[in-house]
Amino acid sequence: MVKICCIGAGYVGGPTMAVIALKCPSIEVAVVDISVPRINAWNSDQLPIYEPGLDDVVKQCRGRNLFFSTDVEKHVREADIVFVSVNTPTKTRGLGAGKAADLTYWESAARMIADVSKSDKIVVEKSTVPVKTAEAIEKILTHNSKGIKFQILSNPEFLAEGTAIQDLFNPDRVLIGGRETPEGNKAVQALKDVYAHWVPEDQILTTNLWSAELSKLAANAFLAQRISSVNAMSALCEATGADVTQVSYAVGKDTRIGPKFLNASVGFGGSCFQKDILNLVYICECNGLPEVAEYWRQVIKINDYQKNRFVNRVVSSMFNTVSNKKIAILGFAFKKDTGDTRETPAIDVCKGLLGDKALLSIYDPQVTEDQIQRDLTMNKFDWDHPLHFQPMSPTTVKQVTCVWDAYEATKDAHGICILTEWDEFKTLDFKRIYDNMQKPAFVFDGRNIVNAEQLREIGFIVYSIGKPLDAWLKDMPAVA
Ligand code: UDX
Ligand code: UDX
Ligand code: ADP
Repeated sequence: MVKICCIGAGYVGGPTMAVIALKCPSIEVAVVDISVPRINAWNSDQLPIYEPGLDDVVKQCRGRNLFFSTDVEKHVREADIVFVSVNTPTKTRGLGAGKAADLTYWESAARMIADVSKSDKIVVEKSTVPVKTAEAIEKILTHNSKGIKFQILSNPEFLAEGTAIQDLFNPDRVLIGGRETPEGNKAVQALKDVYAHWVPEDQILTTNLWSAELSKLAANAFLAQRISSVNAMSALCEATGADVTQVSYAVGKDTRIGPKFLNASVGFGGSCFQKDILNLVYICECNGLPEVAEYWRQVIKINDYQKNRFVNRVVSSMFNTVSNKKIAILGFAFKKDTGDTRETPAIDVCKGLLGDKALLSIYDPQVTEDQIQRDLTMNKFDWDHPLHFQPMSPTTVKQVTCVWDAYEATKDAHGICILTEWDEFKTLDFKRIYDNMQKPAFVFDGRNIVNAEQLREIGFIVYSIGKPLDAWLKDMPAVA
């Protein structure tokens, strides 16, 4: 029986290993983490992450061939294949601060593997890391190996949150990078055999180590670039009277471009896009490619611009001040169907409005008040350091209240900002909401999910990203 151990029970490690366990009953899978509360949650009925379909998969395998444990060393020692899926935050100080990946957690995991191993192992890079990390890890392992042989593979994960289980069941591709030596090829084949339990052979791509590492950064950079491209167009649409939804549709009909990932929004968020692009920028700079670095940096600049533009639109529409005005924030997660708030555009939008002294009433169906308060008080780039490594900040933002209902959030509010595209926001009773709000009542739709015409008939002043502006908004131009 093959034994797999995954270090890091997070958004990637947890769901990925659960699906491997489900699809490969003959393999024993242990997911380990140094965080006791996280492992306890994985062993309870209340899993630490919200992901549609995940509960079901975990229930089927947990205790059978899927185990969650804090006994990191034991499971690593027993495993044939060790996946490493620990966090790789952006460095906050020292060389490359604000751009380069902080590989502290990775390095300590690698040293621990070398320390406890008593048999040969395949070590698989699962978290996104800078190109050539595998080489560095290989050095740590071989210089500390005591004669044990390690093969390093890069097997980047392409799942998206909210659809993780479906993405894992039916991946567009599985990518495995390894050394082009007989031992390397053998390791690649061993990992291929795991995925071959459910993924068609022709969808399992094999490359050298560096191509696999770079492909992950490139894929995320391309995806983010599409969003920044359509968001840049959204600003031009508002200025010219074009409708970004119509433009996206027409552009996406070109089969060379394709229809997906062209929704204008208040900005992209999530744990990967910004971090991976910053990483890419840093690697380009280190390799003497400033023009390439600048090209990719622009994707982030447009994303920041889009978030600022949204805040400015809110403030300028409301007579250039939101001081002491109640603003309802609907949605805080970085996208629907997840409770994850890492790099969510809601953080920057809320901080922008708080800077103008607004009073925020926030509702998200999956995000707790504790998380929101932490996000609004945390420093940039601190989000990816696990909580048990961070001093808990006792500060709370007094201008913020969190409620468990959209009607409560919008009661007596001057304006509503929709920041996550939760399905339930599409079917709200907006007449009831309007009747309970201050007038004029504003809706700022950062996800283009409401029917603006219907809301205007009720009496709202409506701003939708990239759509022709109301007369009111035209009279109050936002300064970007
Ligand atoms: C992303 C990649 O899609 C995935 O392949 C990779 O493994 C990890 O990073 P994720 O961040 O979970 O996944 O979600 P994704 O669906 O890519 O959305 C990222 C952000 O872009 C969200 O804030 C989303 O709202 C935004 N987005 C997405 C848009 O603004 N417009 C779009 O058209 C699509
Ligand atoms: C383009 C658009 O494709 C077409 O829809 C529009 O109506 C006119 O502009 P065209 O310029 O004739 O058409 O050719 P196209 O095939 O788009 O190639 C443009 C340039 O891009 C060429 O120099 C081509 O060699 C280059 N190219 C194209 C690449 O370098 N790499 C690619 O992957 C594709
Ligand atoms: P991702 O979204 O990439 O899955 P997460 O931050 O959700 O990232 O998960 C990373 C997990 O890795 C965290 O739960 C953290 O506690 C864990 N971790 C970090 N370093 C180690 C380590 N040395 N040993 C075990 N677990 C670790």
